[in-house]
Amino acid sequence: MSPTFSETLRAATMPVHETANHSPYISALLGGELSVDAFAALASQLYYVYSAIEEAAEAMRDDPVGGKFVFDELTRQPALRQDMAFYFGPAWESAISPLPATEEYCGRIREVAFTWSGGFVAHHYTRYLGDIAGGQVIRHKLKNLHGVTGPGSMFYVFDQIPSAPKFRDNYRELLNTAPWDAQERKRVIMESIRAYELNVGIFSALAKDMPRYSMS
Ligand code: HEM
Repeated sequence: MSPTFSETLRAATMPVHETANHSPYISALLGGELSVDAFAALASQLYYVYSAIEEAAEAMRDDPVGGKFVFDELTRQPALRQDMAFYFGPAWESAISPLPATEEYCGRIREVAFTWSGGFVAHHYTRYLGDIAGGQVIRHKLKNLHGVTGPGSMFYVFDQIPSAPKFRDNYRELLNTAPWDAQERKRVIMESIRAYELNVGIFSALAKDMPRYSMS
């Protein structure tokens, strides 16, 4: 039996998933080598990324293909705002700023995800499906290493999704039934790989600050 599109997408992005997952910043973060400020720095960059993705979701809401992937229960903006207030105080908006790598990522989202449904899905898939899987590893690390639960870790809490496995199965079904021909599927895969690479770009930029966050 030939693989489904969601299987093909998963397999095609597996190498770059490994690169992202094992990037020095993420490894140090998960390895307990960095202070809680390193988690805050990552979340502050994600605040900009999710502003762009969730603006794209609004633009796609009525799109016959992209609209099927707009799930309000995934929305991360309110959670990130709460986390930013926790880490940086009430004036958090002036305390954080996007890195050039983050601006590049947001620029790409604005370029492709507002008008091309396949581009929107590629960026949406790469972040949210990762958040409800690997993101939960980060959530546990925040709790176990730094005692942070609730505010400061809200980004990783999907309390409106009762079953992550069911959500993932449904999402994969949407990927499999999207009306894309072979060429369009290929474009979606390429854009997803690019989304991963843009994430790796942020991790590499953050890694330059690792000595500041080092706990050893
Ligand atoms: C913190 C390090 C990470 C860990 C420990 C991790 C772990 C995992 C695990 C265990 C799965 C499999 C879930 C399943 O089979 O249903 C998964 C899936 C996924 N991860 Fe990660 N991940 C990490 C980082 C990332 C990053 C940085 C991204 C992208 C920005 C990402 C994107 C994804 C996506 C899109 C999936 C879904 C793959 C699919 O089933 O199609 N992950 N991750």
